[in-house]
Order: sequence, then C-alpha cells, then structure tokens
Amino acid sequence: MAIVNSENDLMEKIVTLCKRRGIIFQSSEIYGGYNGFWDYGPYGVALKKAVEQLWWNEMVETRENVVGLDSTIICHPKTWKASGHIDRFGDIMCDCKTCKTRHRVDQMEDPTTCSNCGSKDLTPPREFNLMMKTYVGPVFDEDHIAYLRAETCQPIFTDFHLVRIATRKQLPFGIAQIGKSFRNEITPRNFTFRSREFTQMEMEFFCSDEQSMDWFYFWREQRMKYYTEKLGFREDELQYHDHDKLAHYAKAAVDIEFKFPFGFGELEGIHHRGTWDLSRHQEYSQQNMEYLDQQTNQKYMPTCVETSVGLDRTILALLTHAYDEDKAPTKKEGMEDDVRIVLHFVPRIAPVQVAVMPLSKKLNEAAEKLQKDICRFYRTELDTTGNIGKRYRRQDEIGTPFCLTCDFETESDNSVTVRDRDTMAKERVNISQLRQYLDDKIYGC
Ligand code: GAP
Repeated sequence: MAIVNSENDLMEKIVTLCKRRGIIFQSSEIYGGYNGFWDYGPYGVALKKAVEQLWWNEMVETRENVVGLDSTIICHPKTWKASGHIDRFGDIMCDCKTCKTRHRVDQMEDPTTCSNCGSKDLTPPREFNLMMKTYVGPVFDEDHIAYLRAETCQPIFTDFHLVRIATRKQLPFGIAQIGKSFRNEITPRNFTFRSREFTQMEMEFFCSDEQSMDWFYFWREQRMKYYTEKLGFREDELQYHDHDKLAHYAKAAVDIEFKFPFGFGELEGIHHRGTWDLSRHQEYSQQNMEYLDQQTNQKYMPTCVETSVGLDRTILALLTHAYDEDKAPTKKEGMEDDVRIVLHFVPRIAPVQVAVMPLSKKLNEAAEKLQKDICRFYRTELDTTGNIGKRYRRQDEIGTPFCLTCDFETESDNSVTVRDRDTMAKERVNISQLRQYLDDKIYGC
C-alpha cells in the first residue's frame, strides 16, 4: 500500500532517498553545491548505464537500419551558427532591479511584477543565449570561442555522409548517439529534470520527404511501446502532447510526457525536422549534403525524423514510477508494521539485480563464491553486514529485485533462499537451477 501523501512529498522523498543511498546527489556539495549539476553515485551510475544499454540495444543493436556514432562535445563553431543555436537558442529574460532575481518572461505569471519581491522595477525583456562557451587554443579572444554542444544531434548531421559511406547504408536509415549536452538554463529545477549538464539519447532517421510522415508515426509508436514494455511505465503515467506550433520546416512534432511528481512533463520529443539541418550545413560548409538514390538516380536532400530523450529525465521518471512505501509486517507482537521504502524497478535495469547474503558470518565464504559465480551474468552485490531484515530493507531501497541467502542448509542441499522484492515471498532454489531461474525472472528468457 502506497503511503506517499502528496506529489511534493514524493519529490522530496525521492531526493532524500537518492542522496542517502548514493543514487544521485548535488555536484560539488562541499562547496555548497552547484545549481543545475548532479552527480550519480554508485547505484545511480549503475542504473544510468543499464538504461543507456537498454536504449542502445533497442535503437541500434536490434535494428538493421540504425547505426551508432560517438562524436565530440566540442565541434567546429560553425556547426552552431548553421544549426541556428548561436542566433536563436535562448529564452527571453528580464531582471528585477530591486532584488536582482532573473526571470524567464514566458514563465512569469505577471510579466510586469517580480514574483520574488513584488517590485515593478524590471529591466526590459532581452534574449539570453543558452549555449555554454569556452575557448579552444592558446588565445582567449572572440576568434577562439567554442561551444559545448547544446544537443547531441548536430554532429550526426555533419557526419551524415561519412557514416553513410562507411556503412554503405541506403536511405531510409538512422544514426544514433548517446552523450552529454550543455545548456545554461536560467532556472534549473525539479531535481534533475532541468539541468545544465545532461545526457541525451538521440536518433536521427533519414528518409525521403514522401515517406517521412509514415516514419514519424512509426517512431512515435515505437517509442511509446518502449516505455510501457521495456521500462514498465503504466499507461496512465504517459501521454502524447502534439505541438501546437511547429517550426517552419517541420511537418509534425510530438512529446511523450511522463507524470513526474510535479505533473506531466516532456520526457522525449519526436520531431519531423524536414531538410532543415542538412540544408543549413550544406549552406555553411559549402559541401553537398544531398543523397543520390541509386534506384531512381535522383538526387535529393534527405528529410529527418528525430527521436530525442534525456537520460536524466528517464532516470527521474523511473524513480518516480518505482518509488513506493508499503507496510512490511513485523514479527514482534503488539508492534506496528514497519514502513518499507522500496523501488520497484523492472529487474532488467535495477542497479543491483541480485544481492547475495550469508545468514551468518560463518557463511561469508560460501556467499562470496556464489556471488563470484553469478556476477558475470547479473549486476550483483555481496551484502554481509547487519541483520538479514536490515539487509533486505537496504536492498529494497535501491530496488534490488532478488536477494539470495546462503544458510546452514546450503552446503547440504546445494540451495539458497530467494526473496522477491515485490512480494517479499521466499522460495528455495537449487544452485544448479539458479541461472535459469534468474534469467527467466530478469530477462524473461
Ligand atoms: N535535438 C532535439 C532536442 O534537443 P529538446 O526538446 O530540446 O530537443 C530533447 O531536448 C530532450 O532532452 C528532452 O525531451 C529532455 O528529455 C532532454 N532535455 C532537454 N533539456 C534538458 C535539460 N535542461 N535537462 C535535462 N534534460 C533535458
């Protein structure tokens, strides 16, 4: 039974748990933190890598028509001129002259009044560019300014022909990449939802203009299926949000929104980008970005349909979905039931999939051997400290779906007790059957 009282309450509980259990915490905490930057601790990074791998498998490894790329974070500054980011990637801001608070005008309830101090003495609205700048080379002047990428997809466009030729791909095909993006967000907020450094997982699918809307609907459906079937999200936690306003070059755009603790928010965008990006890079590089269709002998600029999701938002969605508090029955008579905090991650992406626990110190060696045997197949942890009940609670809090206990019978019956995180049921499983048992439960095979 969930006993989380309100949505704000839930966000606070998630943030507290993430810090306590080493999942996510503020960057540079000893210096007071750094707004908009987050570190992933041991369990957070395990979760993040598992989700990255799942996305990569879903989008690249299991598809013949999508290939991968890992490009640099800093690329030629002309890239960002061509993409429009230098001239147009920003928010309209104004400052309160009294309390110095900076506001995004589109988020102000009353654009003539400071929501912080009530003053009406505001600067005129002006554009604030979100690109993060640095310098490349020994001279720190205007000519040596470079930008940290604001989206991972632009190098996919600039590398389009290199990848196409190297892989001998014909249209339609896609190029996918996972990597860091940087935006100097004015109001980073809602934990990791809006950060200044974050990871994107993007796929640009190139096709002819005639086929582009079919592909748009294909990817729209595929991506929604991924959330329900692979990440285990419920249908009521997800919704499509069609964009009302479209960029002049786009035929369609939709967001997949997730019900975060603060309400529905964008998790992923599926965008029809037309021929905009390749055409702009052709214009700025003076290189021909067109594609020659070998069947029809026609040359044309490919149209692009993009799927773009933030890894950090996926992790926040997973935490929101997985967080629960229920009542675990206590064995002590007259005592109230214990509150159990548990993360119900789907086993495939849990930071620890299998914890191995000796019932007593005397069994440490047997447990260690078992953990060594299975750690090649699953993310495992040897958990030897505290009483068994406390260890179960600790594993519940990081979302470990299966705990194996070695006890004094293990040596004689070659079996362990497997405890299920969600039902808390225990069953005895022979070690020779363990691999099949866990494969079945974790990967459904
Ligand atoms: N290439 C298209 C693009 O970047 P976007 O809607 O700006 O589109 C795509 O971003 C996804 O990246 C979003 O749906 C979100 O998941 C993630 N994202 C964007 N800005 C973010 C931020 N400041 N912090 C965390 N994730 C962010």
